[in-house]
Amino acid sequence: MGGPFMGRTIQLVQDLSSDEQRYFYQKARLYKEAITNRDYDFINAHIIDDNNFSAYLLFQENSTRTKESFYNACRFHKVRTKDLSVGESSILKNETLTDTVKMLMGYAEHSCFIIRSSVEGVCRWLESALQKYAEQSGMMSPFCINAGDGSNEHPTQEFLDEFTFHEYYHGDTSHIHIALIGDLLHGRTVHSKCDGLQIFDEVRVDLIAPEEIGFPKHYIKEMESQGFEVRKFESLEEYIEEKNQADIWYFTRLQRERVADNLVPSLERIRYKISLQDDFLSKIKDEVKFYHPLPRDKLYPTIPFSIDDTPYNGWNQQAVNGYYARITLLAMLKGVIGDDFEGQTLQKAETLTEFMFEKEVNLNKAHEKPVYKIGIKPVENGIVIDHIASGMDIAQIWDRINLIRNIMKFNTISSHGVYKSHRTDEYKGIISLPDFELTENIQFKKLGAVSPGCTINIIKNSTVIKKMKITLPPRIYNFKEITCRNPRCISFVDNYEQVSANFYRKGDEYFCRYCKTPHMVSEIWDTSSLR
Ligand code: NCD
Repeated sequence: MGGPFMGRTIQLVQDLSSDEQRYFYQKARLYKEAITNRDYDFINAHIIDDNNFSAYLLFQENSTRTKESFYNACRFHKVRTKDLSVGESSILKNETLTDTVKMLMGYAEHSCFIIRSSVEGVCRWLESALQKYAEQSGMMSPFCINAGDGSNEHPTQEFLDEFTFHEYYHGDTSHIHIALIGDLLHGRTVHSKCDGLQIFDEVRVDLIAPEEIGFPKHYIKEMESQGFEVRKFESLEEYIEEKNQADIWYFTRLQRERVADNLVPSLERIRYKISLQDDFLSKIKDEVKFYHPLPRDKLYPTIPFSIDDTPYNGWNQQAVNGYYARITLLAMLKGVIGDDFEGQTLQKAETLTEFMFEKEVNLNKAHEKPVYKIGIKPVENGIVIDHIASGMDIAQIWDRINLIRNIMKFNTISSHGVYKSHRTDEYKGIISLPDFELTENIQFKKLGAVSPGCTINIIKNSTVIKKMKITLPPRIYNFKEITCRNPRCISFVDNYEQVSANFYRKGDEYFCRYCKTPHMVSEIWDTSSLR
C-alpha cells in the first residue's frame, strides 16, 4: 500500500495531473474488465479491505447515481460505510460541517468523507482544517472527495465522463469534439470539463445554450488559454444546421433549483433551445453518442425518451461507468494502486513571488527644500503613499484613497488628494502621513492588495530615505476585511461555516482558494463592517 495518490483530497479535477488522470482511466478499464469477467484473483488483490478505515457519505443535496455508485464502490472494497446524508446528521441542528467531520474522524483510525454540498469549496477547506486538527490530536489525516459542490465542480463525474469518452474513442486521446448543451451556467458537471478535457491533445468544444444560462466567461477564458477551440451557439435548432457537428453531445438538465427567479417567465423558451426534438435527428450523424450526467427531467427531458433504445444512447453506459470510476478513485486514494504510476505528478502551482520592490533614492542629493510639500504642512518625518491609482479617472482615484484610509485605518493626522503627475500628465492620489511608520510586513501586504502599483516613501528629516513600489501580493488571507463575493462559497459569512476568505493571485485577479471565483482587486474588500 502507498503510492503518490495515498490520502489526497479531491476538490477539483485539477487535483490530479493529466498523467495521473490518464493512469486513472487505464486502471478503471482494468477494474471494469475484472468485474465484468468475475476475475476474483484480480479483484481480491485490488480491494481496500481494511477494518480500520471508514467511509462517510455526507450528502447535503439529493443524489441517486453519485451516492449509490460511491456506496457500492465502498462495498466492493469491503469498507465500513455510513450514509450520513441530510436528515440523519447534526448538520440540521446548525452544526458546521467542520465540527461534524472532526467528530467523525475519531471513530476510526483512518476515514474518508465523500461530500455533496450546496456550499462551494468544502473539500479544499476541510483538507487543511482537518490536517491541522489531526496533527494536534495525533490522528491520521482523513481525505475528502467532492461529490458536487453547488454550481462549482463535480470532479468524480468528470472522471467517469472522461473514462466514457476514452471508451468512445477506443483509447485514442489525440482529439475530442464535444458539444456541451443545457444549463452551462449552473451545471457543475460542465464546469469540470475545462480541466477534464485536457487529457486530449486537440480539443474542440461547442457550447450550446441561450445567453441567460451560458457558460461563465472565466471558464471560456480558461478553455481558450488551454488551447481549446471554443464555439458558441444559441440553441440546438441553430446547431443542427451546422455542418461540422461534435462526435459527443453532452446534455445537462436545467438546474431549476439554482435558476434565478427573474428567469422563471422565460423558462419555456430557454428549455426549447436546449432540448432535442425528434425531427432534429435526421440532421445528426449516425456515429454521434449522447451523454447526460442524469437525472433527466421527466416533464422537460432535454433528450427525448423516444431515442432511449437507439445507438445514440450513451448515457446508460456512462452512468454504470460511475461505479468503476469510483472504485478506481478509492483504490488510488487509499493507496491500493498507484505504486506503478509513471509520469508527472501534481505540481503545486503556487510559487510565492515578491510584491515589494525597493526603488533607488539618491541619498547624496542635498534637499534644500522639504520633499512632499502637499497638505497643510510638508512632511518632515513620516510616510507618503504616492502613485495611488495612477492613470485612473479622478473619481476612481478618490474611491481608492477612501478605500486605503478605511482598510488601513489611517486614523491619524494626514492629508491626501488627487494631483497631476509632472512627468506623465496623469492623475494620481497621494496620502501623506506625518510622524507615522509602517512597520509590519502585513501592513505592506494589505496596502499592495488595496492599491497595487503605489509607492511608499519613507521620509526622515525632509529627505526620502527609502522608496518602495508595492504590487499585488500572491496570496491574501487572514484579513477580516476581505470576503469572497460568491454567496455559495464556504467562506461567505452568511453561510456561518466559520471559514475566513483566502485568495490567490492569477494575473491581476484574485481567485477564491475555495470556490475559485475570480475577483478584481477592489472586489475582495468589504468595507461595510468598517464604517
Ligand atoms: C449532476 C449533479 O448533481 O451535478 N448529477 C449527477 O451527479 N449525476 C447533474 C444534475 O444534477 O443535473
